[in-house]
Order: sequence, then C-alpha cells, then structure tokens
Amino acid sequence: MTYATKLLSPSEEDIAAAAEMLKNGEVVGIPTETVYGLAANALNETAVAKIFAAKGRPADNPLIVHISRFEDIYNYAEYVPENAKLLAELFWPGPMTMILRKKECIPYITSGGLDTVGLRFPANITARRIIDKCGFPLAAPSANLSGSPSPTSAVHVMDDMQGRISAVVDGGSCEVGVESTVISVSDEGKVCLLRPGFITLEELTEAVEEDNVTVAKGVTECVSDGERVLSPGMKYKHYSPKANVTVVKGDIDSFSDYIAAHGGDNCAAMVFDGDEDKCPCRCISYGSTGEQQAQRLFSLLRKADEKGIDQIYVRCPEQSGVGLAVYNRLLRAAGFEVISL
Ligand code: TXA
Ligand code: MG
Repeated sequence: MTYATKLLSPSEEDIAAAAEMLKNGEVVGIPTETVYGLAANALNETAVAKIFAAKGRPADNPLIVHISRFEDIYNYAEYVPENAKLLAELFWPGPMTMILRKKECIPYITSGGLDTVGLRFPANITARRIIDKCGFPLAAPSANLSGSPSPTSAVHVMDDMQGRISAVVDGGSCEVGVESTVISVSDEGKVCLLRPGFITLEELTEAVEEDNVTVAKGVTECVSDGERVLSPGMKYKHYSPKANVTVVKGDIDSFSDYIAAHGGDNCAAMVFDGDEDKCPCRCISYGSTGEQQAQRLFSLLRKADEKGIDQIYVRCPEQSGVGLAVYNRLLRAAGFEVISL
C-alpha cells in the first residue's frame, strides 16, 4: 500500500491529527530526544504489523513501548523490581529503555515473541503530547529503513518512509542523536546493559552499584551467527550508510598516513575537532566529546551517501561515557571492520 505521507508540525491541531491517525491503527513518524520513531498503537496487533512492514524489520526483533507517565510501568510490566524503580526515578523521562517481564496486554508481535517488554518514557515534549492524546502506549522502533542509519530529523524520516506511512511530525533535530540506552532488569534487580546510549554505563553503575551491572557481549564484540543475543537488534548489521565504513584506531598522524596509503578517490574521513586539515582527503569533524559525536554521527553518515562517497574512515571515539554508544553504533555501521594502527 502506498500512502500520501503528510508532514505535520507540533501544533495542537497537527498533534490531534497525528493522534487520530494512531487511533485508527496507522503508523506515524514522531520525534523523540534520541532519534525519530515509527509509532503505532503498541496494544493493537494490526497496527504494529504495519510498523514491521514499513521498516522491513525481522519479526523476531522486539519494539520499544513508549509511555508518558511513570505509573504506566505498572500497567505493562508484570513485576517492577526496586532497582527498576530507582533507575526510572533517576533517568525518566529520558533516553533509557528498561526491559522487564511483560504483562499479557502487550501482544507478542510487539515483544518480538519474547515474554519481556522494553519500556521507555521519553523526555521529548512532542512525543509525550502525542502519547497523552492517544491514551495508549506507542510501539516505536527508530524510523529508518531496517539496516540504515537512524533518522535524527523529519527530513531523514521522509527520505526513508515517504509513501510507506501516514505522516511524520516534525519536531526539529534530535538533541541526543543516538538511540536510548537499553538495559534489562531481572526480578532480582540485576541490570544488564544491552545497548549503550546517552545514559552511560558509569551512571548506571553509580546508581545501582557495580556488582549489580553487567554488559552484554554484543555491546563491543561481534556476536556470531547462531549465538544467543539478549537484544535481538544487536545481531543485525546496522546503522550503515551505502558507503563502506572503517573504524581506525590511532593518533591523527598515523590515521592520516593510513588514508594516504589506502584511501581511494572517493573517500572521506570523520575526525575530531581541529584535525580537519590534517587528512589527505575530504574531511569532516564529528566533534570532540561523546555527546557531540552522538549528536552528529547518523546525520553525517547520511550526508556521505548524498555526496556519493564510497568509503568513510572514522577516527575511533573514546569508549567511555557517551563515547561507548558512538563506538557501539560505529562498529555496526562498519560491520566490525576496525583497523588498529
Ligand atoms: O531511542 C530509542 O530507543 C528509539 C526511539 C524511537 O525511542 N527507538 C529505537 O528502537 O531505537 P529500535 O527498535 O530501533 O531499537 C530497539 C532495540 C533493539 O535492539 C531491540 O532488539 C531491543 O531494543 N529490544 C526492544 N525490546 C526488547 C526486549 N523485550 N528484549 C530485548 N531487547 C529488546
Ligand atoms: Mg533501530
């Protein structure tokens, strides 16, 4: 089915229009503070099926369920351990998704066949107004076509989803730029980091004590085919532009020498602030801090495609703080191709 995808504003009237479409079981692109989401009624199987179709997403990859009130955690999670309450109080509303045992009302199509549900209370005001207006939770994966970089503006969503969904609400560019931190919290209160994000491993560890936090293998390592992954989304090649991406570890001089020796005509480099004139190719900074790099990463990868670049060399970010999230996304964009100099 082809849709005449409408571009809506965050005005009262347009939010009401978006909520009406969602009530009718349609799919709408919505802004959040992390990336844009492809939203539908999380409790309606037919509506959720349309998300999978629009994205081309594998059916075993569960969707995050977005809520707009703390108390909703009790409506959709079967059991809420103390540590989950504590983390929700500290980091919600905000870029953190908590995986808990699901209540029956969450359909299996939404949870990718699992008995758990990923819950997120976003900070973005437009997202919250839309959820409030609907009166039901919204299932929403990132609003990109499966495999490509997540969208951080309404234009990106239109580029991927025009004709595939009913509308996109334009809420400007996303402040965070990478998807939420995903953690699972067991009934005993043990926390496992499945996907790093703006809420950092350091912050989680400080909140619930080190003994209670582990990091899933897929965060910084390649999980081989057939191996069980805790977060199904982590096993797919992901976030990749059409260009080949290579992560390069080393100082700027060896990075630059590497490009001089290996870079072809149509390559580009992504470096840190101040290094832009030190590379023998088209070069752009993606910032110096993890926060800046997160904010710019996906939009720069999309820009490289618009310019027809075939190879991007990226200087490896720090692997701590928000940098760990940037590193995690880059590894997947690069299909785990990392060169250490
Ligand atoms: O910031 C975000 O999280 C954005 C915005 C729109 O909220 N959403 C997002 O959704 O990134 P998505 O579907 O692109 O990524 C969700 C990740 C996937 O890796 C998925 O496998 C994992 O979370 N996930 C969701 N529910 C899960 C569950 N019940 N168990 C394990 N992993 C789950
Ligand atoms: Mg995604």
